[in-house]
Amino acid sequence: SRSIFELWGQGKSAEELFTSLKNYPMEKMVPYLQSNSTYKIHIHAFNKTLIQEEKIKRIDALEFLPFEGKVNLKNPEHIFWILEDYGMDPNNIPEEPLDLYFGRWIADGQRELIESYSVKKRHFIGNTSMDACLSFIMANHGRVKANDVVFDPFVGTGGLLISSARFGAYVCGTDIDYNTVHGLGKASRKNQKWRGPDENIRANLRQYGLEKYYLDALVSDASKPIWRKGMLFDAIITDHTHVTVHRLTAFWLLISSRYTEEIIPRHPCLKLISNCEQMLSSHTSRRLITMEKVKEFEDKDQYSHLLDYQSLLYKGHNSFREKYFSGVTKRIAKEEKDNQK
Ligand SMILES: C[S@@+](CC[C@H](N)C(=O)[O-])C[C@H]1O[C@@H](n2cnc3c(N)ncnc32)[C@H](O)[C@@H]1O
Repeated sequence: SRSIFELWGQGKSAEELFTSLKNYPMEKMVPYLQSNSTYKIHIHAFNKTLIQEEKIKRIDALEFLPFEGKVNLKNPEHIFWILEDYGMDPNNIPEEPLDLYFGRWIADGQRELIESYSVKKRHFIGNTSMDACLSFIMANHGRVKANDVVFDPFVGTGGLLISSARFGAYVCGTDIDYNTVHGLGKASRKNQKWRGPDENIRANLRQYGLEKYYLDALVSDASKPIWRKGMLFDAIITDHTHVTVHRLTAFWLLISSRYTEEIIPRHPCLKLISNCEQMLSSHTSRRLITMEKVKEFEDKDQYSHLLDYQSLLYKGHNSFREKYFSGVTKRIAKEEKDNQK
């Protein structure tokens, strides 16, 4: 998306928009209309150019809204937008807009990051480097912000550290694979046999001017925690099901066709915040799971993982791992393809 707005009203005509705005709950408006605040109203027409006079007329028509703050065009605290939609056809622009919207601006999208952080142009990559778009989505899910400390227990080539560092967080990771952490071994690029002398996570962060956010990466098995008791991270963002959790965590879960909510790992200290699916094929998908730590770990929580449905499931016949490696997934896909013939 280009931008995100909190929609306060909409309509097919100016009158409809005004009625809708008058019905918007006052308690939701008031925090942004306070007398000690500053604001600005913008207007944008899709598929039409409005002259200044028309713009001012439309802004003045919103006088009935209880704006108490001062107008500040340069650096307002709150920004509002009137959006008018004149359709898609440049040869047939209607006199009046087809749809009108009014809302509070929340944020602009940063889609250009997908291109500028593309794995294709990245210094150090592996076969499973996380693509830039998903890495940024994950950092957003982790609500990563400046000066946070973010940890990726399955760090690989550090794809997820890059997006968090871009948002100003200090980043660190672990990986069980010595060669990955040290940037050694076989290269993942087609025309290259071995990794070059400076192909490592630090060099990746340097490539984007983010080296100062790099704490370090250690060779370590994430199932055997190395951190002292009470060690806290602001977010754990990773591309693997994993074991230890601190404030906020986002990770991927690979899932076969028989998905039910019960297979999402549970823990009394963690609350599920979101669960998004990415289809990989007709029978497999992965899910981005985001959880928030809601309480400190207590002694009585130490066996809770044994009751976790997922840990039972992974041992059972329904496990993705077993299914995948036994070729069931491939077989089903083949059957489906044959049926289509
Ligand atoms: C899907 S990759 C992560 C890719 C990473 N997000 C990137 O952008 O390059 C998963 C990583 O987990 C590591 N791994 C697997 N088991 C592990 C364990 N028990 N402890 C730590 N790392 C492990 C693998 O070596 C691999 O590098």
